[in-house]
Amino acid sequence: MNETQKIQKLNELRAQSRLGGGQERIEAQHKKGRLTARERLDLLLDRGSFREMDPFVVHRTTDFGLDEQKIMSDSVVTGWGTIDGRLIYVYSQDFTVFGGSLGEVHAEKICKVMDMALKNGAPIIGLNDSGGARIQEGVVALGGYADIFLRNTMSSGVIPQISAIMGPCAGGAVYSPALTDFIFMTRNTSYMFVTGPDVVKTVTHEEVTQEELGGAAVHSEKSGVCHVAADSEADTLYLIRKLMSYLPQNNMEDAPPAATTDDSLRMEEALNSLVPDDANKPYDIKEVIRLIVDDGNFFEIHENYAANIVVGFARLGGQSVGIVANQPAVLAGVLDIDASEKGARFVRFCDAFNIPIITFEDVPGFLPGTNQEHHGIIRSGAKLLYAYCEATVPKLTVITRKAYGGAYCVMSSKHIRSDLNLAWPTAEIAVMGPDGAVNIIFRKELEKAKDPVKRKAELVAEYKEKFANPYVAASRGYIDDVIEPKETRPRLINALAMLSNKRDANPAKKHGNIPL
Ligand code: HXC
Repeated sequence: MNETQKIQKLNELRAQSRLGGGQERIEAQHKKGRLTARERLDLLLDRGSFREMDPFVVHRTTDFGLDEQKIMSDSVVTGWGTIDGRLIYVYSQDFTVFGGSLGEVHAEKICKVMDMALKNGAPIIGLNDSGGARIQEGVVALGGYADIFLRNTMSSGVIPQISAIMGPCAGGAVYSPALTDFIFMTRNTSYMFVTGPDVVKTVTHEEVTQEELGGAAVHSEKSGVCHVAADSEADTLYLIRKLMSYLPQNNMEDAPPAATTDDSLRMEEALNSLVPDDANKPYDIKEVIRLIVDDGNFFEIHENYAANIVVGFARLGGQSVGIVANQPAVLAGVLDIDASEKGARFVRFCDAFNIPIITFEDVPGFLPGTNQEHHGIIRSGAKLLYAYCEATVPKLTVITRKAYGGAYCVMSSKHIRSDLNLAWPTAEIAVMGPDGAVNIIFRKELEKAKDPVKRKAELVAEYKEKFANPYVAASRGYIDDVIEPKETRPRLINALAMLSNKRDANPAKKHGNIPL
């Protein structure tokens, strides 16, 4: 073979490798409304930036006739590229090859890019589309999964790890995503379950479809396993690109600043009349967020799960921030099990990756009742408390209305190391709401009163006058200042600049013991 022929052979092998499981299977994949592994990478990464690794790798299995089916690259495409010019490591499972199932070399390829991502301090994004452990490879496939799980765990809190679920993901295929920071799913074409509908039927006699068992709707609304659900694969990949813009490359860096024309000193008059006079009337905290952050852009996480708390990324003066906000428009913004866990996880992510946390507080307390108590609201509420307590990033709190009871302490109060706590004049900071408080502390007096209804109204008015305001807390320094709502944006941007060199640490330890 001369040089030209050798180059020709290389190009032929490359072309063959790029074809994965072949044209027929590619068409079958398209027919299911899904893209191929490589088409997905083209959409995810900056145009032309993808560099593939290991395109010539083939499996080493001989059992079950697999020695006659060797497909170059095996069932996963790996490498690196850029998103908005920033380095990203990627792997994309190829369903056209053995259903994207994971065997020995598939796992080795993923581990190789994971190791490179960790060593070089850049995020890793996995596009998952897999039938799980490759059945023909037996325990070797299981070992491969465990190798990946270990790396997911070692990388946790060091580099951002993002998972997109782009097809069926069964068995071991769901546990690696579950160990990563954010899971994206595509509606109607992606599924996640530990055991599929067939196994479910055998074990529990339940008849359930893939969609009902583990579709994007289930995981983004009920289980909370999915953080962002999108309508199409292209949308899913676009949203991942968007998320990456808010994140640093690793835990030693800050998120990149973004240019904005939104004035840092912008006063927002609409905020002065946004909170209703009646403390029991809802309003949309997302409207508050949008009026304050740069250009009204808010990238929401877990939008349809535990909507009584709102979390997501935004920018203030070009700086990436994480926002945690009680949502008075859903269940009056009460903290329940799901909301506490949602908030806690987000706070810990931000803290791990140097993203300041802005908390908007309007919370009537923890949700009472046997359901919540029996399912462990004590443990779950403690997770949120723990997350805020241990966080050392800049923390800013704005109390817009209610800050009642334990929820006052939890939602980034001054006592748990929040750096600057501001209240609007509409804030009510007290152990509980006026009605409940009067019922308890004046029970005897109300029992004896000639006109209990009238007396109660008087006592409620008295309590409101005394406690339903921010000034008792402000007089003790628990609130650093009471501000006009319209000033919130400039005040927060100023505070972030003031805290830009913040240094704080926790005592040396192996790791804490968050109440899991
Ligand atoms: C080997 C597999 C495979 C697997 C699918 N294929 N899953 N090959 N090992 N795990 C192959 C099929 O044989 C088929 O090959 C091709 O991929 C496409 O699969 P289809 O079934 O035709 O596709 P579809 O109808 O879309 O169904 C997709 C699916 C289904 C829902 C993923 O294939 C399925 O249920 N697979 C098994 C899922 C599972 O139980 N996996 C094991 C999990 S145990 P041909 O050649 O016919 O095209 C596990 C343990 C790890 O993962 C635990 C770690 C904690």
